[in-house]
Amino acid sequence: MSTVVNTARPARLGILISGRGSNMVALAEAVHEGRIPNAEISVVVSDQANAAGLAKAKERGIETLVIERRRRTRAEHDREIAEALRARNIDLICLAGYMRILSSEFIDAYRGRILNIHPSLLPAFPGLDAQKQALEHGVKWTGCTVHFVDETLDSGPIILQRVVPVDEGDTVESLSARILIEEHQLYPEAVALVLENILGLSAGQPMTEAFEFTES
Ligand code: GAR
Repeated sequence: MSTVVNTARPARLGILISGRGSNMVALAEAVHEGRIPNAEISVVVSDQANAAGLAKAKERGIETLVIERRRRTRAEHDREIAEALRARNIDLICLAGYMRILSSEFIDAYRGRILNIHPSLLPAFPGLDAQKQALEHGVKWTGCTVHFVDETLDSGPIILQRVVPVDEGDTVESLSARILIEEHQLYPEAVALVLENILGLSAGQPMTEAFEFTES
């Protein structure tokens, strides 16, 4: 009698945060509810020891790591993060309010496997304070974008976007809050789309070794 070894496993997500972690929670809930099929959140990494998102990840039983920059170069810091992700066989990296630019070495090692969410309709308003930039420019519509990360700041191929109207009398706080509601829906949709299209996953079709990411 032969033994069948089932190598199928869920796609392993690593989430990088720096703060509140509400998008991380939205992803965790989407995985839990099956809106991101055949996936698990394997680790949440923060570059800030006091990030509020760390406690939210722990509450959900997700492993957390704090990897601070300290006095190291960007490349050294990123190397430690990459090693932690590699040790956990991470397939897809989601930046969720990770407020640090990644080194080209890191991006190269995980090219096409790093997603970011940004609170504007990119390419408009990259960088910090995207909602404030939108108000200052007087745009009538803004929104949020999930995109692949490349070497350019808040650029890289766009996966999905959601439009949010700017209301008369909007403040940075009120506009940010309305955009955030859309972010929490958009990010899980984009992750599910990427897993299905890039990694060949869909509901009822778990990941096999053949789909695993190998570094070039
Ligand atoms: C989110 O609005 C996200 O789009 C933004 O930071 C916030 C993080 O909130 N990211 C950027 O501006 C990236 N350039 P969260 O920690 O509650 O998810």
